[in-house]
Amino acid sequence: MPAPSAIAITPSTRNVSIDVRNPAFYKNPLASYAALHAQCPSFFWEEPQQWYFAGYDQVNSLLRDRRFGRQILHVATREELGLPEPKPHLADFDRLEAYSLLELEPPAHTRLRTLVNRAFVSRQIEQLKPEIAALSHSLIDGFEKDGEVELLKTYAEIVPVTVIARMLGVPVEMAPKLLDWSHRMVKMYVFNPTLETEHDANRASAEFADYLKGIIDWKRKNPADDLLTHMITTEKDGERLSDDELISTAVLLLNAGHEATVHQLGNAVRTLLETGTSARDVFSSDAATERTIEECMRYAAPLHIFQRYALSDIELEDGISLKKGDKIGLLLGAANVDPKKFSDPLTFRPERNEGAHVSFGAGLHFCIGAPLARLELKLSLPILFERLPDLRLKSEPQVKDSYHFHGLERLELEW
Ligand code: HEM
Repeated sequence: MPAPSAIAITPSTRNVSIDVRNPAFYKNPLASYAALHAQCPSFFWEEPQQWYFAGYDQVNSLLRDRRFGRQILHVATREELGLPEPKPHLADFDRLEAYSLLELEPPAHTRLRTLVNRAFVSRQIEQLKPEIAALSHSLIDGFEKDGEVELLKTYAEIVPVTVIARMLGVPVEMAPKLLDWSHRMVKMYVFNPTLETEHDANRASAEFADYLKGIIDWKRKNPADDLLTHMITTEKDGERLSDDELISTAVLLLNAGHEATVHQLGNAVRTLLETGTSARDVFSSDAATERTIEECMRYAAPLHIFQRYALSDIELEDGISLKKGDKIGLLLGAANVDPKKFSDPLTFRPERNEGAHVSFGAGLHFCIGAPLARLELKLSLPILFERLPDLRLKSEPQVKDSYHFHGLERLELEW
């Protein structure tokens, strides 16, 4: 298969140039990944000027490799690393990141993760089953008679945000505002955000934090059976979470709790419809449904790329030398279609049983919400196809011009 026009590979030097804004790339990154697997699975990406890894084994082991971390400032100063000073106009955004589970390394990470984890174990999550099913049905009740719908705004977005808001104990009526803050913040994760994006993300962070501070103060006086109250009152070794930690964790859970799931739901529906897959067959039993969900997550993952810092000088096996503080990129989306791991990887095969994808990551930062995301998908996908058996695409789905969130702009369906 020839490499798509958006990617230029020089195998002799392992240099690769990719234009992530070119539709030939972002509409179907899997085709570019196939070219990388064939010619250069670890490569120096010229635009961001750093090493990237596409092979399944490499990505999987680098995610678990304790010589790398999501954070570097716990082992070095900015001056040592020649990093620029924080931007003052991002102070509120940075404050949320500074206490975010996703941006911490042990021991701070271990402490925070232990405190939050209990709520996310499968046993706890299973209890949400009736609530998620009822929510899916009630949303479909709202548009069933119309014969058509834009699925992202009416369903894929609403299920995850409602569930995570209820779990945390944040009023569900706030969902539109939570979505607005979250969308404005996650725009920061694209390559080279604009100054306007930065200012806007900072304003959203300040408003979001202020709002949560109010809720937390209220919960302190009015404890309830929800995750925020649990985080406020829980103790480990005599220590409680500080207000900054509580706010950052709540923001992270509200953001991470829906942004990826929305696109995973949209990508899964699109995949099932475009491949002419029979919903009746693939959702015929619990086991078949679970396999189908895992294949949707492998083939049409919403998050394709994560970064790590080298915490010391490191020589990798394939002759790549890294200095302390260097960043590397791990292409989860590419690892999921490595032909060394998955047979015929660019084909969607719901019955596939060839081991785990890495869409939820691996190692210390493995997605804490994985049991919840899986349950939401396992319920809301089959219910949609069961209720609307004639479901079909009304127009060609438009892929978002944003590499970091591989998802759709809109998903117009009819029946
Ligand atoms: C299909 C949906 C989802 C996908 C594909 C996904 C993917 C991921 C990935 C790849 C990571 C690891 C990032 C890294 O290693 O750098 C991660 C971490 C995380 N995810 Fe998810 N996620 C999803 C849904 C959720 C949900 C529903 C929640 C919460 C309710 C959630 C909360 C988190 C949190 C808190 C972390 C940070 C964990 C840590 O740093 O210890 N995610 N997710």
